[in-house]
Amino acid sequence: MATPFSSINRRQFLRSSILAACAVGAPFLLQCGSKGGSAVFVKQPLPYAKDALAPTISAETMGFHYDKHYAGYVKKANQLTLKGSFGGKSPEEVIQSTAGDASQAAVFNNAAQAWNHAFFFKCLKPGGGGEPEGVLAEMIAAEFGSFANFKKVFLTAAVDRFGSGWAWLVLEEGRLAVVSSANADTPLAHGLVPLFTVDLWEHAYYLDYQNRRLAFVTAVLENLANWDFVAAQLELAKPAKEPAAENG
Ligand SMILES: [Fe+2]
Repeated sequence: MATPFSSINRRQFLRSSILAACAVGAPFLLQCGSKGGSAVFVKQPLPYAKDALAPTISAETMGFHYDKHYAGYVKKANQLTLKGSFGGKSPEEVIQSTAGDASQAAVFNNAAQAWNHAFFFKCLKPGGGGEPEGVLAEMIAAEFGSFANFKKVFLTAAVDRFGSGWAWLVLEEGRLAVVSSANADTPLAHGLVPLFTVDLWEHAYYLDYQNRRLAFVTAVLENLANWDFVAAQLELAKPAKEPAAENG
């Protein structure tokens, strides 16, 4: 059976709930939820100026992406969730509870896109790129052989994703994996822990790169990837340490 979520180096996907992801420390939480009819989703501030990622991503692209596309998903997700029975749910819980439910497709799509974009913007920084260090670098080397090979796997996932979607580095059962998702789909809906992503929708790159998706994703990895943020997500995703046994 076809899955909307494809893995490059794994064939099996967990179908556990968002609570399972939280159990291993689902790191990036939007920390908001509806209370008494208030909005579930809050538009997250862009962590840099709109022209700060140029020339890799132009100010024009960031303007449309943040102010039009992302803001549109947040607004629509709030309109839909305020009409539904999502009171008290966090954004992550809205996504998990509507995933795979055709009757809730509009809620899922807008909620997941709101979440994915907030996460994506944090995965970038001016002067980013290069190679990660520390535990993240060690895990990449262990899983993919080298950072160069990880890049190759990630770029292949991004280019092979037909149509709109996302390329991800995730944590799956404690191991790194590269996956891609179609349209609004997100690792949160599959019990995986997102660590890094690149938006593959044409609105993310067409003004700057036209049809050259490979050039866009390569430039993002080499110039903008915020490996400090990724390493922080990995650290937060570690299970809590067991308390030391008492002697005697
Ligand atoms: Fe986007």
